[in-house]
Amino acid sequence: MSQHYAVWLTSLALMACVASGFIFVALNSGRREENYAPLAKHAYRLRTKLFWVLVLVFGSAMIYTLRDLPYDAVSRDMNNAGPPQVVAATGYQWRWELSHDRVAKGQPVEFRVTSADVNHGFGIYDTEMHLVAQTQAMPGYTNVIRHTFDKEGTYKVLCLEYCGVAHHNMVAEFQVSDL
Ligand code: CUA
Repeated sequence: MSQHYAVWLTSLALMACVASGFIFVALNSGRREENYAPLAKHAYRLRTKLFWVLVLVFGSAMIYTLRDLPYDAVSRDMNNAGPPQVVAATGYQWRWELSHDRVAKGQPVEFRVTSADVNHGFGIYDTEMHLVAQTQAMPGYTNVIRHTFDKEGTYKVLCLEYCGVAHHNMVAEFQVSDL
């Protein structure tokens, strides 16, 4: 059975369910209920059950989806590939200081990014000037990003946050190669 056909059958069945629900309500709407107390009790019990079903469904859905946060995926990646190469990066008005200007291709690199003065934006661009990773450079904080470079070449670090008159001068370079 083709997938389209299965989808079509399923939606047909669901539509039939909804339609029969409407018909049931329409047929029974004329009848008057004399004693509401047992009906109300039944409804409350149903509501409590529904509440716990929703807690169970959404609770487990939340746990299931939170397991796959990107941060987790990154750290698993790191564990497989061995210890990262560490590059300390500091932003100044108006330049970048990198502890290394050469990293190895195909191995994770950990950038520890901070600022000596104001907020800067730390953006890494590949040889085609596509942004491959970024974080904020903030005074008093060290933000960590990890990236594995798969292509050799000269990469650029640009400032992504306006930080004064020479903001555009904040360009640094580093090489990615087989070390
Ligand atoms: Cu530093 Cu803009």
